[in-house]
Amino acid sequence: MKISNHVSWVGKVDWELRKFHGEQLSTNNGSSYNAYLVEDEKVAIVDSVWTPFAKEFIENLKSKIELSKIDYIVVLHAEPDHSGALPLLVQNAPQAKIVCSASAVKSIKGYYHQDWDFQVVKTGEKLSLGKTELTFIEVPMLHWPDSTMAFLSEDNVLFSSDAFGQHYASQKIFDNENDQTEIFYEAMKYFANILTPFSKKVTKKIEELLALNLPISVIAPAHGIAWKDGIKAIIDKYILWANAYSENQITLIYDSMYNSTRRMAEIIAEGIQAECDDVKIKIFNSSKSDINDVVLEVFRSKAVLVGSPSYNNGILHSIAGLLDEIKGLAMENKKAAAFGSYGWSPANVKIISESLKAAGFDVFADTAKAQWNPSEADATKLFDFGKEFAKFLKQ
Ligand code: FEO
Repeated sequence: MKISNHVSWVGKVDWELRKFHGEQLSTNNGSSYNAYLVEDEKVAIVDSVWTPFAKEFIENLKSKIELSKIDYIVVLHAEPDHSGALPLLVQNAPQAKIVCSASAVKSIKGYYHQDWDFQVVKTGEKLSLGKTELTFIEVPMLHWPDSTMAFLSEDNVLFSSDAFGQHYASQKIFDNENDQTEIFYEAMKYFANILTPFSKKVTKKIEELLALNLPISVIAPAHGIAWKDGIKAIIDKYILWANAYSENQITLIYDSMYNSTRRMAEIIAEGIQAECDDVKIKIFNSSKSDINDVVLEVFRSKAVLVGSPSYNNGILHSIAGLLDEIKGLAMENKKAAAFGSYGWSPANVKIISESLKAAGFDVFADTAKAQWNPSEADATKLFDFGKEFAKFLKQ
């Protein structure tokens, strides 16, 4: 698949992938491991594919070029979804130098324990391939210390590593050949679940990138489709997403044993809507929803309400897990509140409130509790709680 004059896509589309980072991240639309072949006077491979596809990757590559002609293997990021085929590639192309950042040398050696022929590059350094030239831009913590981008002159392709990527399988490589709603949804899910903790660095690096005034014709990320028509759109989205992003949305997330906490969520939501007609409200049962899709909804919300009944000495594990996930993502500028039913110990709302505070949310002082199954009197209180929470959002 041709990307530009000198660049071909030689990666792997993984249509059946449903979980990534072990079982941590859902990839409901599959993914791709994008590797690129640059053919000029010199030949370079930019990144490779995940380990299970190493052999297939090498066979495909052999059908396109003689591997003995590869001069450089550029490693922009050593996470095994992009470097997994590196040992086999080096074995088949022992003459090639591995071009990467100093940090990537550490992560590559950490994974593969080999003393390969490394050529270390820093931001601003160039590698001539003939008519074209690669310029490297280190983007540490987008999302690993080794993360690096490379810009190919002449063709004006920015190899952006994980940034601007999406877990999205498609036969078609360019944005304008794909469903716009799907690719932007997956790009946002990727950002929300992977890049949010590094938002300040994203902002800084995008400012640096824009200051370089590169005449980018294609952004070629390490996953999903490449951006051609949507270059400005995806960069603008990253600037927005990295800056304490929220929409006019409130999300309620609960788990429930006997529907008491579910009913509470629904009544509170009615109270909020009565006070704020224009706000979009979404409700999820965390034990029945995809956690990464819920994280995306939290990311785009200006406020969240989290509910669980008391359970043993704590709360239900799907809510505990979600709260832990949210804490690690360090989202900014969001308000929150806790609710839940209990039998004899209302410790649940305290535990949830504390977790939300630890996650950096501005937590409503009041909590919504109901003993056993909410009564009619409780329902009125819960409705009013929703209204009060909506007023808290206006402060
Ligand atoms: Fe797609 Fe961070 O590897």
